[in-house]
Amino acid sequence: MSLAVSGLTVRLGGRDVLREVSFSLAPGAFCGLIGGNGSGKTTLLRTILGFQRQAAGRVERPQTAGYVPQKLQIAADMPVRARDLVELGFSSPRFFFPLPSAKRRQRVDEILAATGALGFANQRVGELSGGQFARVLIAHALAGDPRLLLLDEPLANLDLRAAAEIVALLRKLAARGVTILVSAHDMNPLLGAMDHVVYLANGRAASGPVAEVVRTEVLSALYGYHIDVIRVHGRVIVVAGERGVQAHGPEHVVAIP
Ligand SMILES: Nc1ncnc2c1ncn2[C@@H]1O[C@H](COP(=O)(O)OP(=O)(O)O)[C@@H](O)[C@H]1O
Ligand SMILES: [Mg+2]
Repeated sequence: MSLAVSGLTVRLGGRDVLREVSFSLAPGAFCGLIGGNGSGKTTLLRTILGFQRQAAGRVERPQTAGYVPQKLQIAADMPVRARDLVELGFSSPRFFFPLPSAKRRQRVDEILAATGALGFANQRVGELSGGQFARVLIAHALAGDPRLLLLDEPLANLDLRAAAEIVALLRKLAARGVTILVSAHDMNPLLGAMDHVVYLANGRAASGPVAEVVRTEVLSALYGYHIDVIRVHGRVIVVAGERGVQAHGPEHVVAIP
């Protein structure tokens, strides 16, 4: 088991943002963490990492976990090259014995090559495209050779092609045994890649293979009102009746009057 979350409840501002969330992932699993804005995706990832305290429940994870946060803005004129950002990944406190600089640079080059980022390694990070920057953030997170990689909406600002390239990169990492947990408000770019889904709504989670979870009955039970799951042209559209939208309004759910 590479990640086991059981009975996890997280309270923020007097409210249960997550309620008794449980799921587990095998090594090399590719899991999408799906939910609308405010459904608790970032909270769940931060709690798994130990940045956020839980009110109840437990998390078992490997000691080394990589993290690609949702927001990281670097000004275009900051004199930080892509390779510098990756090298910074090696200066975390977990490297009790720092690598000698030649060895470290060799590892940085290996990681840049593995993430397809060598070609722009010497460019300033503020000047990179969204897809290039995502590769560099993933490279940074891989510095500790993690068995588990958590990514918070890495596809949110990418065009379709760049998103598909990042998904392909994550798939490659999963095939090498790195467990991937990647959050998204739109599951469509992940559909062909993910073998597992954790779907969040109303603070609760449904988890399992996509075909078992992304179904009308399961999502209706999770939202607490009728939901239709429609498959069209290889895409999934989650549709709420008008009443559901007026009552709760999850913004990634399409309303049909
Ligand atoms: N520090 C906090 N204090 C109180 N409420 C918070 C805090 N952080 C997040 N929340 C609330 O928790 C819910 C889940 O937020 P978040 O995990 O950021 O969702 P997501 O990443 O899915 O958009 C939201 O309703 C948000 O307003
Ligand atoms: Mg978030």
